[in-house]
Amino acid sequence: MDGRDRVKTDFRLPKAGTIEVAPSILSADFAKLADEIAEVESAGVKMVHLDVMDGHFVPNITFGPPVVAKLRGHSKLVFDAHLMITDPAGYAERFAEAGANHITFHIEAAAEPERLIERLHLLGCTAGICLNPETPVEAIEKVAPLCDMVLVMTVHPGFGAQAFIPEAARNVIRVREIVGPEVRVEVDGGISPKTAGVVASYGADTLVAGNAVFSNRDRAAAIEAIRDAAR
Ligand code: DX5
Ligand code: ZN
Repeated sequence: MDGRDRVKTDFRLPKAGTIEVAPSILSADFAKLADEIAEVESAGVKMVHLDVMDGHFVPNITFGPPVVAKLRGHSKLVFDAHLMITDPAGYAERFAEAGANHITFHIEAAAEPERLIERLHLLGCTAGICLNPETPVEAIEKVAPLCDMVLVMTVHPGFGAQAFIPEAARNVIRVREIVGPEVRVEVDGGISPKTAGVVASYGADTLVAGNAVFSNRDRAAAIEAIRDAAR
């Protein structure tokens, strides 16, 4: 085990049962990402959401493993990597090596989801499966209980600051029934103090928020407002 492995085991996804806000750096200032992350870290969050886009699975491009590796040196937060990429199995190892602690891939992009979940665990990461708004929950029924967290998209992936889709949020109810209380259920897209209450009432415990956190000059207050609304 080298230093990198040791660092990774220190940063684990919190056990299910608490409400966590995961700020998405998609809406942060990319010219000063380390500072932006430090700011939400000092506001008391446990994890930060890293949106990886390849311009193929989604029509937008963000960043890859080298950026994650650089950020790793600046933060002790759990790195929650959301891979919106066509070939998650081909890149999982590179993201794990870069310092991602939790890696989520899309069911729509995975040829062998069970195998990928197993590989993520072998790489020392927790594993997540994600479903798009139009994907039936049945698509993840078998694999969701093998994951540490299930991610329910509440917008179409690709861009920040989109409008929350209430029908997509309802997928949380069925996902929570499938996984029970021990697996985290994360929601992503359009989460704000206005929408946090309803997703939490459906059973979500992990709330990704990009625009609602980073468009606010007072990030700590923005995070607290989302957490309050979810209680
Ligand atoms: C969308 C990304 C989200 C995005 C959410 O494709 O997966 O994580 O950053 O942004 P907001 O919270 O602004 O809707
Ligand atoms: Zn995301």
